[in-house]
Amino acid sequence: MKFTRLLFAIAGAILPFALQAQSWAWDDGTVPYVQTPMEIVERMLRMAEVHTGDYVIDLGSGDGRIIVEAAKRGARGLGVDLDPNLVNLATRNAQQARVGDKARFEVRDIFETDLSRASVVTMYLLPDFNAKLLPRLLALKPGTRIVSHDGGIGDWPADETLAMRTPEKPVGVGGNSKVELWIVPADVHGDWIAELSGHGGAWRFHIDQHYQMLEVKAQTQGRELLVRNTRLRGEQVKLVVTGLVGNRPWHHYFVGQARGDAIDGEVTVSTGKEQTVYPWHAKRAP
Ligand SMILES: C[S@@+](CC[C@H](N)C(=O)[O-])C[C@H]1O[C@@H](n2cnc3c(N)ncnc32)[C@H](O)[C@@H]1O
Repeated sequence: MKFTRLLFAIAGAILPFALQAQSWAWDDGTVPYVQTPMEIVERMLRMAEVHTGDYVIDLGSGDGRIIVEAAKRGARGLGVDLDPNLVNLATRNAQQARVGDKARFEVRDIFETDLSRASVVTMYLLPDFNAKLLPRLLALKPGTRIVSHDGGIGDWPADETLAMRTPEKPVGVGGNSKVELWIVPADVHGDWIAELSGHGGAWRFHIDQHYQMLEVKAQTQGRELLVRNTRLRGEQVKLVVTGLVGNRPWHHYFVGQARGDAIDGEVTVSTGKEQTVYPWHAKRAP
């Protein structure tokens, strides 16, 4: 008796999720039309810091709501969708919102859309679909923001994640929404050399990179220093390094912009009492 009750309890817990999953993805793996709730659209645009000067591309634009809202913030945008009726609806919605000059919609396959102009890419697709887009997204200009509603991008860890209850959402797990942000990282892997004439002379950095995550080794005066913290956000590299330089213990805070084979910025060195800022120009080692 108890066992039967338990079975009903398990079935009751699982069934709603199974039904939701079925209604969300078509059997052939394509992505159906489901709207992002307006509150989530607002969060997505805020997370990506969309502003005047941005060019936003929404992959699978539905009724155009993401691009229309981005245009209201001063951005220009392109929405692509396979469904011509949705593209017409989105175009009308943009005109009604008086942003028709900034928001464009095209009948186009996501996989045939040129993303190179984007400073922001938005999507509400399915994880399998996103995973196929990973190589193209990762190859975008460093600093490009990608924001997704309910769907990771393969094994690329997000830079920021927001979870929210969305009772109005017709699909998904129990009225919850997840919004994630990725910032395309610059390629900084390899060996770098820098001359800090006032502080240690020649420095050498070895960087192992996995997406935006870095493992860094730093050396000067024949000694390895302790790299306590690293961050890569688009082109911006930050390193916190401590150790002996000239036989005194120092704390170093390197901040620079990585472009191609150069990192340019500055390093703040301090003992706790004194603090000096030096330029930091690193070049990829030949
Ligand atoms: C879940 S809806 C999202 C709509 C809108 N972006 C939003 O968040 O409200 C996904 C949209 O992607 C479109 N879509 C699916 N596969 C596509 C493809 N390969 N190329 C272009 N659009 C596609 C569908 O027609 C649908 O409108």
